[in-house]
Amino acid sequence: MTDLRAFEPTDAPLVASWIDSEESLVVWSGKAAFTWPFDPRQLVAFHAADPTRRPYTAVDRGGAPVGHLMLRSTGGAVRLGMVLVSPGARGHGHGEAMIVAGLAEAFASPEADSVELGVYAHNARAMRLYERLGFRPERVDERSVSVAGQWWDSVTMRLTRQEWLES
Ligand SMILES: CC(C)(COP(=O)(O)OP(=O)(O)OC[C@H]1O[C@@H](n2cnc3c(N)ncnc32)[C@H](O)[C@@H]1OP(=O)(O)O)[C@@H](O)C(=O)NCCC(=O)NCCS
Repeated sequence: MTDLRAFEPTDAPLVASWIDSEESLVVWSGKAAFTWPFDPRQLVAFHAADPTRRPYTAVDRGGAPVGHLMLRSTGGAVRLGMVLVSPGARGHGHGEAMIVAGLAEAFASPEADSVELGVYAHNARAMRLYERLGFRPERVDERSVSVAGQWWDSVTMRLTRQEWLES
């Protein structure tokens, strides 16, 4: 069982320890928010800077943190972002369970008509997970960021409330 609870600043050192390279930082959070080397204080400051950000920590059945995600309302769409499972906990269903819980949180707002996210096109594992939960690719932004001399394409995916209700 995987539950979501509100992210606490004291979670930041653990969450930051799951990011082990500049590449994994960008895969997780894009290029706009943070700089490498990543420091937990950047994460605390980022979440504190904007009250529309709703950060969550995913915990296992014993209450141990295993993941992180964030919701942010942007009009009728809710943005799902900063999806991360602890490297040691991957492949056990935590990613799927925490996104299922995140979708329930997002659609609990009556004005939320869809949930959207961005994922880099080479991140096949994450894309499979999102597609399993009903997200569909909507748009590709080619050469969205450059990391270590390589251009990465970014894919916007969306799940509408109707699709979520039917899933
Ligand atoms: C993408 C990410 C969140 C997925 O988290 P996860 O906890 O590994 O996800 P799940 O366990 O739900 O699913 C992953 C795989 O494990 C499999 N799995 C789930 N439960 C399992 C179990 N009990 N036994 C065996 N396999 C299992 C799933 O079927 C899935 O297989 P697939 O990759 O072949 O489709 C995680 O890999 C991650 O944090 N990656 C780095 C950051 C990132 O890419 N974030 C997304 C940015 S858009």
